[in-house]
Amino acid sequence: MNILFIGDIFAAAGRNMVTEHVGPIVAEHQVELVIANGENSAGGFGITPQIAEDMLSLGIDVLTGGNHSFDKKEIYDYHDREPRLLRPDNYPGGLPGKGVLTGTTKLGTPFAVINLQGRAQMSSIDCPFQAADRILASLDPAIKIRFVDFHAELTSEKVAMGWHLDGRATAMIGTHTHVPTADSRILPGGLAYQTDAGMTGPYDSVIGVEKEAILRRFLTGVPTRMEAARGGAELHGVVITADPKTGQASAIQRIRAIR
Ligand SMILES: [Fe+2]
Ligand SMILES: [Fe+2]
Repeated sequence: MNILFIGDIFAAAGRNMVTEHVGPIVAEHQVELVIANGENSAGGFGITPQIAEDMLSLGIDVLTGGNHSFDKKEIYDYHDREPRLLRPDNYPGGLPGKGVLTGTTKLGTPFAVINLQGRAQMSSIDCPFQAADRILASLDPAIKIRFVDFHAELTSEKVAMGWHLDGRATAMIGTHTHVPTADSRILPGGLAYQTDAGMTGPYDSVIGVEKEAILRRFLTGVPTRMEAARGGAELHGVVITADPKTGQASAIQRIRAIR
């Protein structure tokens, strides 16, 4: 089976790329399961119920999140109503939503999607490595297809998580840095790995934000108002080929669509 994962959808530019390209990519690669990170889909900061509905209606089966998951207050209640919207599971207890979804694809393949967040140079939430162990141990062994979106800043933490999961999950793809990495590979235990999928959004920007404001911030050290950029829209992600009987991946291919 083929799984499509789309990196952080950023603002209108990213949403438009999803609208235009998801259908053709799914058809071309005969994709059975579509997962996308939506943490920046509302103007770059968070996600709203309406945007989540729109993205789910375009053929995305599961939306993952990250440090921006709770930026919009209207999303709190929605998390408890819509299990297809995930947020990192290793946030402290008491927050709405979950970081794990189990389900069955249209073709009948059982799957699990897991969303975790790193702690290196990010807020110090619960340990993602121990959370991964706990979640994997809790899954029905019949669920072989196990996809992990690890939302983290440091390449080293992501690489370490890849080795931690190898042999126990189908894929671990990183998100959050918004820059696609060229290290896609299959680890010895059958894990499809890439440090970062890259952003789906405006690349005439500094990781999605208008470059003038960010440059002013770097040049002056003074806080500036951050607005989502519009130009240079690209879609980035990966297509993973995996065996539903074993859960092992056999191929990973980087996907890039340009307007
Ligand atoms: Fe992001
Ligand atoms: Fe992020």
